[in-house]
Amino acid sequence: MAFTGFAITVLLLSLASDARPCSDHEKSSLLRFITGLSLDGGLAMSWRRNGTASCCSWEGIACDGDGAVIEVSLPGRGLQGSISPALGDLTGLRCLNLSHNSLSGGLPSELLASNIIVVLDVSFNQLSRVLQQEDLSSSVPDHRPSLQVLNISSNLFTGEFPSIVWENKSNLVVLNASNNSFQGWMPSSFCISSPFFAELDLSYNQFSGSISPGLGNCSALVVLKAGHNQLSGALPDELFNVSSLEHLAFPNNYLYGALDSVINLRNLAILDLGGNMLNGKIPDSIGKLKRLEEFHLDNNDMSGELTKVNFSTLINLKKLDLLCNNFTGTIPESLYFCSNLNALRLSFNNLHGQLSPRIVNLKSLTFLSLGYNNFTNITNALHVLKDCKNLIVLSVRGSYKASCSLSGKIPLWLSKLKKLEMLVLPNNKLTGPIPAWIKSLKSLFYLDISYNNLAGEIPTSLMEMPMLTTNHLDPRYRTASAFPKVLNLANNNLTGVIPREIGQLKWIDILDLSSNSSSGEIPQQFGSLINLQVLDLSNNHLTGAIPSDLNKLHLLSAFNISNNDLEGPIPTGGQFSTFTKSSFGGNPKLCGIIIDRPCGSTGAHPVPMLSTKQTGRRVAFAIAFGTFFGLGVLYDQIVFSRYFG
Ligand SMILES: *[C@@H]1O[C@H](CO)[C@@H](O)[C@H](O)[C@H]1NC(C)=O
Ligand SMILES: *[C@@H]1O[C@H](CO)[C@@H](O)[C@H](O)[C@H]1NC(C)=O
Ligand SMILES: *[C@@H]1O[C@H](CO)[C@@H](O)[C@H](O)[C@H]1NC(C)=O
Ligand SMILES: *[C@@H]1O[C@H](CO)[C@@H](O)[C@H](O)[C@H]1NC(C)=O
Ligand SMILES: *[C@@H]1O[C@H](CO)[C@@H](O)[C@H](O)[C@H]1NC(C)=O
Ligand SMILES: *[C@@H]1O[C@H](CO)[C@@H](O)[C@H](O)[C@H]1NC(C)=O
Ligand SMILES: *[C@@H]1O[C@H](CO)[C@@H](O)[C@H](O)[C@H]1NC(C)=O
Ligand SMILES: *[C@@H]1O[C@H](CO)[C@@H](O)[C@H](O)[C@H]1NC(C)=O
Ligand SMILES: *[C@@H]1O[C@H](CO)[C@@H](O)[C@H](O)[C@H]1NC(C)=O
Ligand SMILES: *[C@@H]1O[C@H](CO)[C@@H](O)[C@H](O)[C@H]1NC(C)=O
Ligand SMILES: *[C@@H]1O[C@H](CO)[C@@H](O)[C@H](O)[C@H]1NC(C)=O
Ligand SMILES: *[C@@H]1O[C@H](CO)[C@@H](O)[C@H](O)[C@H]1NC(C)=O
Repeated sequence: MAFTGFAITVLLLSLASDARPCSDHEKSSLLRFITGLSLDGGLAMSWRRNGTASCCSWEGIACDGDGAVIEVSLPGRGLQGSISPALGDLTGLRCLNLSHNSLSGGLPSELLASNIIVVLDVSFNQLSRVLQQEDLSSSVPDHRPSLQVLNISSNLFTGEFPSIVWENKSNLVVLNASNNSFQGWMPSSFCISSPFFAELDLSYNQFSGSISPGLGNCSALVVLKAGHNQLSGALPDELFNVSSLEHLAFPNNYLYGALDSVINLRNLAILDLGGNMLNGKIPDSIGKLKRLEEFHLDNNDMSGELTKVNFSTLINLKKLDLLCNNFTGTIPESLYFCSNLNALRLSFNNLHGQLSPRIVNLKSLTFLSLGYNNFTNITNALHVLKDCKNLIVLSVRGSYKASCSLSGKIPLWLSKLKKLEMLVLPNNKLTGPIPAWIKSLKSLFYLDISYNNLAGEIPTSLMEMPMLTTNHLDPRYRTASAFPKVLNLANNNLTGVIPREIGQLKWIDILDLSSNSSSGEIPQQFGSLINLQVLDLSNNHLTGAIPSDLNKLHLLSAFNISNNDLEGPIPTGGQFSTFTKSSFGGNPKLCGIIIDRPCGSTGAHPVPMLSTKQTGRRVAFAIAFGTFFGLGVLYDQIVFSRYFG
C-alpha cells in the first residue's frame, strides 16, 4: 500500500520537475524491482528523497543522454529477497551490478538472455538456480544474447551447469561461476558458441569427470581456473593447443598423468597444478615457458632428478612450489639464475647435498622452506643464507638429521637478517645456548627451535623480543597479525628457572617450553600474558604451587603442566573449568576435584565462567594449532599461502 503511494508520489513529483525525466516505463521497471525485494536497505527511501528528479539521478542508477537507464549498480546495498525479471524490461540496461547483497531464489533467465545487458554481476549473494521463464518456448532466445561478462561466483547454485541460455550462440567473454556447488561435467560449450571467450573460473565447485576436451575450441582463452573440484583423468591434449592461455589452474583435483605437453603453452605466466596425483618428471625443457611467474606442483607424485631440469631461462619466475613430491638429486644450480624468485618451497622431497653459496644470487628471496629432505650440513646451509638479506620466512624443519657432522650453533650472522619474521628450525641438531641477540630481530614474531639440543638457561633477553612485547600498529605488520605469535623451545636441554621477565611477553599467543629441564617455580608473572592461548610447561622439573592468577587468562584454551613436581591446589574457575585431568597428571603433590584428589577447604577462589560458546571457539583454536605443531606441512601450507597466495 505504502509503496503504491510512493510510486504515485514519485510520478507526480517527477512531472513537476523541469529535469528531463526517464520514461515512465523505465521508472516502473525499477519500482517493480524494488517491490520484489523483502529488504531494500533504505533504497526505496533514498529514491523517494530524490523523487523530484528523473530516476536518472536516483542512487545507483545511470542513464544515457536520452534518459534511458543504462546502469543499475547497487553492490553491497543490503538488498534481500528475489531479483525481479522486470529489470529485463529496461530497454537500455547494459550493466547490472547487484554483487555483495543477500539476494536469494532464482536468477531470471531474461537477464541472461537479454540482447541489451552486457555486464551482469550478481556475485556474493545467495542465488540458487537460474529461473526459467514461464513460457519454455521463449526461454531460448532467438537472438544472440549480448552478455559478455557474467559473474555468478560465491552464490548457492547447485546441480548441472545451466548452459541452455548461452548454449548455441553467445557473446560471452568472461564467466566466473566459482564458489558455488555446481555438479556434473565441466561446461565448455561457450568455446564453440562464443568466439571471444577469454576467462573461465569454475573453482570451488563439485564438477567431476574429466576435463572437457571441448576447451580446445576456446582459441581465445586466457584464464582457466577450475581448482578445488573433483576432476579426474589426464589433462586433455586439446588443452595444450590453446596457446593463448596465460593462467592455468587446476589445484586440488584428482588429475593424474604426465606434464610433458605443457611446454606448448608458451604464454603461461601462472601454472598451478598442486594437490593432484600427477606423476612423471618436470619436463627438462620447462625453461621454454619464459613468461612463467608462478609454478605450483606441490602435493603430487612427481619424481626424477631435479638436477636435470634447466630453470635458468625462467627469469620471470617468482614462486616455485614443489612441496611434497618425490624429487631426488640436489638443488639444481640452474635455479640460482632465477633472480626474481621470491618464494621457494622444496620441503618434503628426497633432495640431498648442500646448499650452494650461489643462493645469494636470489636477491628477492623472502620465503625459503627446505624441511624434510636429506640435505647435509646445516651449519653450511645457515652460513650460505647469511647474505639473503630479504628473507622473511626461513623454514628448515627436520631437514638435517643424519650424521654427527650435522650439528651446529645458531650462528651469529642470522642476527643480520633484520627482516626475518618467522624462524622455523625444529628437528635439527642445533647445540649451544639460545643466543641473546635474538631480541635484535625486530620483526620476528614466530620462533620455533624445538627438538634440537640447545642447552643452558632460557635467556632473559628472549623476553624482550619486540614483536612479542609490544603491539605493532605499523601496517607493515598486518600480515603478521594474521598469525599466532609463537615461542617454541620444547624438547631441548634447557635448564635453570623460567625468568620472571616472561610477564613482558604480553602479545604472545603460544608458548611451549615442554620437555626441557627447567626448575624452580612457575612465575606469578604468567598471569599477565593476557593473550596466551596455548601454554605447555609439561615434562620439566618445576616445583611449588600453580599461580592462582593463571585463571585470569581468559583466552587460554590449551594448558599442560603434566609431569613436573608441582604441589598444592589446582586453581578453579575461569578457563580452568575447561581443562581435563591430563593437563595436570604426573604431579603427585597437586590436589583438586579435577584430578580426583580433593584439597579440603584450601581451594582457590573461583572466578565467573565464560559462556560455553566462547569456550567452544577457543578450544577449536587450540586444536587447530595443536595440529599445526603435529603436521609441519599443514602449517607450512598456511604460511605460504598467507604470504604469497
Ligand atoms: C539525488 O541523487 C543525486 C545524484 O545521484 C545525489 O547527488 C543526491 O545526493 C541525491 N539526493 C538525495 C536526497 O539522495
Ligand atoms: C560491482 O561492484 C563491486 C563493488 O563495488 C565491484 O567490486 C565490482 O567490480 C563491480 N562489478 C563489475 C562487473 O564492475
Ligand atoms: C565479477 O567478475 C567481473 C569480471 O571478472 C569483475 O570485473 C568484477 O569485479 C567481479 N565482481 C566482484 C564483486 O568481484
Ligand atoms: C571469481 O570470483 C571470486 C570471488 O567469488 C574471485 O575470488 C576470483 O578471483 C574470481 N575469478 C577471476 C578469474 O576473476
Ligand atoms: C565463497 O562464498 C562465501 C559466501 O559468500 C564467502 O564467505 C567466501 O569468502 C567465498 N570464498 C571464496 C574463496 O571466494
Ligand atoms: C543447440 O544445438 C544443438 C545441436 O547443435 C541442438 O540440438 C539444440 O537444440 C540447440 N539448442 C538450442 C537451445 O537451440
Ligand atoms: C570443436 O568444435 C567442433 C564443432 O564446432 C567439434 O567438431 C570439435 O570436436 C570441437 N573440438 C573439440 C576439441 O572439442
Ligand atoms: C592441435 O592443433 C593442431 C594444429 O591446429 C592440430 O593439427 C591438432 O590436431 C590439434 N591437436 C588437438 C589434440 O586438438
Ligand atoms: C620415491 O621414489 C623412489 C624411487 O626413486 C621409490 O622407491 C619410492 O617408493 C618413491 N616414494 C614415494 C613416496 O612415491
Ligand atoms: C640420506 O642420505 C644418506 C647419506 O648422506 C643416506 O645414507 C640415506 O639413505 C639417505 N636417506 C634417504 C631417506 O634417502
Ligand atoms: C659444513 O659447512 C661448513 C661451513 O660451510 C664447512 O666449514 C664444513 O667443512 C662443512 N662440513 C662438511 C662435512 O662438509
Ligand atoms: C643436557 O645438558 C647436561 C648438562 O647441562 C648434559 O650433561 C647432558 O648430556 C645434556 N643432554 C643432552 C641430551 O644433550
